[in-house]
Amino acid sequence: MTLPESAVPLDASAYRAAMARLASAVHLITTDGPAGRAGFTASAVCSVSDAPPTLLVCVNRASSAYAAFCGNDSLGVSTLGAEHEAVAGLFGGRTPMEARFAAGTWRNLAGGAPTLADALASFACRIVGRHTVGSHEVLYCAVEAVAVSGEADALLYSEHRYRTLPRLLPISAAAEPARAPRAVGARPAEAAPRALRSA
Ligand SMILES: Cc1cc2nc3c(=O)[nH]c(=O)nc-3n(C[C@H](O)[C@H](O)[C@H](O)COP(=O)(O)O)c2cc1C
Repeated sequence: MTLPESAVPLDASAYRAAMARLASAVHLITTDGPAGRAGFTASAVCSVSDAPPTLLVCVNRASSAYAAFCGNDSLGVSTLGAEHEAVAGLFGGRTPMEARFAAGTWRNLAGGAPTLADALASFACRIVGRHTVGSHEVLYCAVEAVAVSGEADALLYSEHRYRTLPRLLPISAAAEPARAPRAVGARPAEAAPRALRSA
């Protein structure tokens, strides 16, 4: 079989290079409990279901935080805004756990894991399933409490750099003529184009 010109035989570096093209939200994943307090920066976070509310997180089994996630069942997800780039860097590795947690203001929504007080969205979870896949463990997490805060722009990671995604203006603030109410499931009104910018 002849490969298309753009295809390359798959190895880990080709896979990583392709994955770097994906723009991802950035989260802090945290835990506390009998195995201690720990956390790391993650993009491998995904909603599984809203019935019951469940998300998944992929954690590298070689990371310094992994032992704490093995011994605890609490897990917090703090979805970061543009002003959190520095704390994302601290939780991104090679920083002692105490220094990571000294950087933010934390609160306990439920279950024991700390979440960042000014995160765009916070999820307090209990780990209800684990599945090892290669270098990583997939943690299935039942969401027990959520919080949202602020109007900050979102922090993204793409092509090895942090970027920010401007928040859409509230519909009422947009300079648009009045429209009929939008039906559930209809496409949202187009926002004025605002560039995705590098952080
Ligand atoms: C933007 C970004 C996304 C990351 N996503 C993940 C992830 O989804 N899962 C993971 O285990 N590590 C992820 N990492 C790596 C961890 O944050 C961290 O570097 C790794 O756990 C090693 O940390 P350590 O020095 O404490 O061992 C990510 C790092 C960055 C900067």
